[in-house]
Amino acid sequence: MSNTDSTHAKPRRITIPFILDLITVSEPDQIQKIETSGDVDRLHAYDTKSLPLWIKRYFKSTKFHDDKRDLWFCPFESASNPTYQPRRNYLQEKVDTGYSQEDVKKIAQLLKTNAKNEVLAHEMVQVVNQRFFGEEIPQRITELAKDTVQSFTEVISPFRYRRGIKAQEQIMDYCEQKLPSHAHILDVGHNIGEVVQATAGALRKLKDNLDEPVEEIFTLNAPTPQVPRIAIKSSTFDGLLSSPTKPGKSVLIFKISEAAAKTKDIFFTFGVGRKERACVFQDFFVKFMQDLQRELKQD
Ligand code: HEM
Repeated sequence: MSNTDSTHAKPRRITIPFILDLITVSEPDQIQKIETSGDVDRLHAYDTKSLPLWIKRYFKSTKFHDDKRDLWFCPFESASNPTYQPRRNYLQEKVDTGYSQEDVKKIAQLLKTNAKNEVLAHEMVQVVNQRFFGEEIPQRITELAKDTVQSFTEVISPFRYRRGIKAQEQIMDYCEQKLPSHAHILDVGHNIGEVVQATAGALRKLKDNLDEPVEEIFTLNAPTPQVPRIAIKSSTFDGLLSSPTKPGKSVLIFKISEAAAKTKDIFFTFGVGRKERACVFQDFFVKFMQDLQRELKQD
């Protein structure tokens, strides 16, 4: 199908001169075309100080960036960054140590007894993240982890914005104190937030859909709505845009949850529809949810 196919919505673009150039893409084939074009990269392909101001302001209130130490979560690093591959490998190795059937039973029990979201999130954080710390992650941290900002609209509220910044600072300080020195504190700290913000809701979705295949549930209800990229070359992506991107200035937002629902491809739930650079947690997540579904169906 050609990229001028009229059934395909074109990317949407909002430009405010010198302040913002934001391009939103939700068609799965356009996302993949742009991702593989070589004309975009991860945000931290540029030094933090040279990124658009709104990016720096927004991301310091999220779980993806540590403003004080200038750290970014692994998927925000260009593959050409020498720290990228070892960081990914470390997380992958840790995640691949898996989970126990006791973990599955514990979460199933909480779901069956309608435990509160905070309790569910706290326990799920232990299942996924205790392996990095070697000890229980305190309630104080799992509660703070729900406060980091999750969407652009949230920062309209100064209260939520400031609360997000503060939560992120405290989580990072905790990670710095408790993690072994070879661990990347942002990569690990991020995952506490991801589990609190995404996995607890996902568990409830699973409970409501015990007879549907896990991959179908989580392509129709993908927890991550979107991921960002930044232009590194001037490009219209073969005519998809009417005027070219500006390197280091134009930011692209890939609407991956919409793409996951359209394609039913779980690689859009955990990335941009391809194996390369897919989330290291994908297999763990799918297997855990399948085991949990079986356990929940037992009575
Ligand atoms: C339900 C929970 C989760 C969801 C929905 C999720 C989703 C995603 C998505 C969509 C990406 C792609 C980002 C991009 O292309 O910019 C990603 C990347 C990544 N995720 Fe997750 N994630 C989850 C939990 C986790 C956890 C618990 C870990 C680690 C323990 C983790 C580690 C990673 C890493 C390391 C990457 C980067 C992969 C790369 O760039 O090579 N994720 N995740």
